[in-house]
Amino acid sequence: RIVYVNGAYVPEEEAMVSVFDRGFLFADGIYEVTAVVDGKICEWDGHIGRLERSLGEIGMSMPMSAEELLEVHREMVKRNNLEEGAIYLQVTRGAADRDFVMPEGLDQTVVLFTQAKKLTGAKSGLRVISVPDIRWGRRDIKTVQLLAASLVKTEAKKKGKDDAWMVEDGFVTEGSSNNTYIVTKEGKIITRNLSNSILPGITRKSVLRIVEELDMEIEERPFTIEEAQNAAEAFMTAATSFVTPVIEVDGVELNGGTPGPVSKRLGEVYIEESR
Ligand code: PDD
Repeated sequence: RIVYVNGAYVPEEEAMVSVFDRGFLFADGIYEVTAVVDGKICEWDGHIGRLERSLGEIGMSMPMSAEELLEVHREMVKRNNLEEGAIYLQVTRGAADRDFVMPEGLDQTVVLFTQAKKLTGAKSGLRVISVPDIRWGRRDIKTVQLLAASLVKTEAKKKGKDDAWMVEDGFVTEGSSNNTYIVTKEGKIITRNLSNSILPGITRKSVLRIVEELDMEIEERPFTIEEAQNAAEAFMTAATSFVTPVIEVDGVELNGGTPGPVSKRLGEVYIEESR
C-alpha cells in the first residue's frame, strides 16, 4: 500500500511518525473515515466539515485547505487503485517532548491510508450485546482515543456476537463505531438526538434525510435496551457499513432473527444515492 505522511506518498514500510507524536502518547488527534464506492469518495462535505469542527474543539486548525485535503484523498484512491473501501485520515497535534500541557505551534502530523473492503451488497444482520458506556464526555469529537470502543467490540466478539451497544444512565448512546436506531411496531424510527454523548454521524445525517424523503416517521430521542428488544427491527449506520440491520439485542431476536424491511429499504436507497 501507498500511504500519505506529511506531504509524501510512500510505501507503508517506509512511512515514519515520531515516537514523541502526541497522537501516540496522548491520543491528541482527530480522525475521519470516508467510504469509497466505484472509485468515488462518498459524503466528502460531511466528513471535511466534521473534521474541521473536531479539530476546532481541541484547539487545532485544519492542516491544509479542504480542497487540498480532497486532492490528497483522490490521489490516495488513484495510487492504491481503490475501487471500494475506506480512506482513513488522521491529524495529530504533532511531536514534542512529553508534557500534559499542549505545546503551541507544532507541525501537525497528517497521515492517510486506504483499506480495500466490500461495502455494498446485501448485509446479514448483526447480533449485539449491551455494555456500559465508559467513554469520556465529549463523544461528539472524533478523537483517536478508541480504547473503550475497541474493548467493548472485542468483548462482543469473544461472546460470539458482532458488536456492542453502549448504555449510559439506562439509555443506549451508540454502537462501538456506529449510530443506532430502532423501528417501533408502529413503524416509527427512533434514534438518539445529537449531543456531547454521541458522534454526529455523517451517515446518520443522510439516512435521516432519506427517512424524511420517504415520508417515514422519525423521533430523535434516547431509547432503552428493553425498547430495542421490543422493537420491530433495529439497525446501525456508519461510513464503512452504511445501513446495517441488527437482528438480536442481548439474546432477544428481532423480526425473527432476520433483517427487517425498513432497514433493508434504507440500506438500498442509501447505497443507490452514494453511487
Ligand atoms: N466510526 N459513532 C461512533 C462512535 C463512530 O466511531 C462512528 C464512525 C459513527 C458513525 O459515523 P459516520 O456515519 O460519520 O461514519 C458513530 C468510523 C467508521 C470508524 O471509526 O471506523
